[in-house]
Amino acid sequence: MLLELKDVHVHYGKIEALKGVSLQVGEGEIVSLIGGNGAGKTTTLKTISGLRSCSAGSVFFEGADIGSMPGHKRVLAGIGQAPEGRGIFPGMTVHENLLMGAYARKDDHSKELAEAYELFPRLAERRSQAAGTMSGGEQQMLAIGRALLSKPKVLLLDEPSMGLAPMLVQQIFSIIEEINRRGTTILLVEQNAQQALRLAHRAYVLETGRIVRSAPASELLDDPQVRAAYLGGDVGGDPGAVAAPGPETVALSKPAKAESVKDESVKGESAKGEPAKDDAEPDGADAPDGE
Ligand SMILES: Nc1ncnc2c1ncn2[C@@H]1O[C@H](COP(=O)(O)OP(=O)(O)O)[C@@H](O)[C@H]1O
Ligand SMILES: [Mg+2]
Repeated sequence: MLLELKDVHVHYGKIEALKGVSLQVGEGEIVSLIGGNGAGKTTTLKTISGLRSCSAGSVFFEGADIGSMPGHKRVLAGIGQAPEGRGIFPGMTVHENLLMGAYARKDDHSKELAEAYELFPRLAERRSQAAGTMSGGEQQMLAIGRALLSKPKVLLLDEPSMGLAPMLVQQIFSIIEEINRRGTTILLVEQNAQQALRLAHRAYVLETGRIVRSAPASELLDDPQVRAAYLGGDVGGDPGAVAAPGPETVALSKPAKAESVKDESVKGESAKGEPAKDDAEPDGADAPDGE
């Protein structure tokens, strides 16, 4: 198992945000963690990346207990994160932001840099632009691209679709699938359960600090309880794929190839140099962060 949480408890003062979370992420998988606001999704990712410590329980990476390993060492070990609310450096250029992703590495990062620009041609176009003047969708691409510069074995993504227009949501999810196809394991946290379940191999449902369901993603997509709680009014543009019963549901919803994604990324956005208005991002608005 690449990554494993065993009975993890995390507190913020007296508040117990995680009440015994256990989950596993195997090499090559896309695993989704879905759940409502305040369920503990961000806390789970922060516990994996080392920004919060467990009050009880353990985190294992490649079989080793990493509970006492500092965050920067976890990045070097292969745990990459694109944080909630982007976390980019607004005054630095796109290029400088990408390079920050490789800050802990001593080896050559030119391959990963080229790959980030290839996956996100928009970032290549905006290489010298101040990151803070990019649109919400572009900043999300930058956050993911930067995480790739650390050459992660597992990429932790915290609500990459948050605040984005539907077309951009499709693009981001297609690129996530492409990153996985190229060999990176993904742990995807989402409130957008519909999309996350269509992309993932397996999924966990988190409710107020506890895992309440764990199953192949296709099973959860068809589960009446999960649908009532997380998929109501979130059917998106492809109701056929959702309505179809049975295990073939996920096969119906294979995302577009990365090539078509790149083409779409040029359409429907504002003129060069101006942040797009269509995907305004409530940046960090609901990210309580007392560190
Ligand atoms: N820095 C913090 N200080 C105190 N409580 C926090 C902090 N961060 C998160 N919490 C609480 O922990 C719980 C889980 O939060 P979080 O992991 O951000 O949930 P999610 O990402 O699923 O919305 C919530 O009740 C939240 O209010
Ligand atoms: Mg969160």
